[in-house]
Amino acid sequence: MFITFEGVEGSGKSTQIARLQARLEAAGRAVTVTRQPGGCELGLTLRAILLSTKTTNLDSRAELFLYLADRAQHVAEIIRPAQQRGHIVICDRFADSTVAYQGYGRGLDVGLLNTLNDVAVAGAWPQCTLLLDLEPEQGLRRTLARALANPHGADEGRFEAEHLEFHRRVRQGYLALATLHPRRFAVIDASRDVDQVAQDVWQAVAERLAG
Ligand code: TMP
Repeated sequence: MFITFEGVEGSGKSTQIARLQARLEAAGRAVTVTRQPGGCELGLTLRAILLSTKTTNLDSRAELFLYLADRAQHVAEIIRPAQQRGHIVICDRFADSTVAYQGYGRGLDVGLLNTLNDVAVAGAWPQCTLLLDLEPEQGLRRTLARALANPHGADEGRFEAEHLEFHRRVRQGYLALATLHPRRFAVIDASRDVDQVAQDVWQAVAERLAG
C-alpha cells in the first residue's frame, strides 16, 4: 500500500508519520518512509534549491518542473522498489502538493498539472492520502516557533515566507482535491492534540488496509 500525507505548513505531518510508522511496524508490517522533495539523492539537491530563501526569482514553471523531476526520480528510485519488496510506503507530500501549491497557490493550470503529474508518477498513485487540515495561520505559527527554537536549522523557509492568501489558496486546493477523490482522501482536523489526530490517522489507514 502507498500512503501519502498532505497539508499546509506546520500541519504536523512529520509527527504523524512517525506515529503511523511505529504503529504499523508494531503490527508486523515492513514500512518505508520517504518524502518529497528530498527522498532521493537528486531530490536532496532539488530540495536545497526549492526551499532556500536564497532562491529568488524562480519562475513558477521552473519550480513546477523541479518538483516533477524530483517526483519522477523518487518514484523510480525509492517508491517502486520499496513496493516491490512488499513494503508499505509512506510519503511526506506527493503529487497533490503540486496541484495545491503550484496550481491553487501559484495559479498554474490544474488540468495541465494533472497531466504532468501522471507522467511523473507513472502509475504509482497513492491508495490513501491523509490530509492534515489546518488553518494556515495556526500552521505558520507552529513553523515560526520551530524556527525560533532552532535558529541554526536548514534554510528552508521559501514557502513559509509566502503571504497568508497564498497559504489559504493552498488549503482550499487540498479541500477541493479531497472532495474530488473521496475514497482516496481522509480529511483530518489537525488543530487538535497529537494523540487525537494519530487516532484518526490510524482509523483511516486501518479501514483502507482492511478494504
Ligand atoms: P516540507 O517538506 O517541509 O513540507 O516542505 C516542502 C515544501 O515544498 C512545502 O512548502 C510545499 C512545497 N511543495 C510544492 O510546492 N510542490 C510540491 O509538489 C511539493 C512536493 C512540495
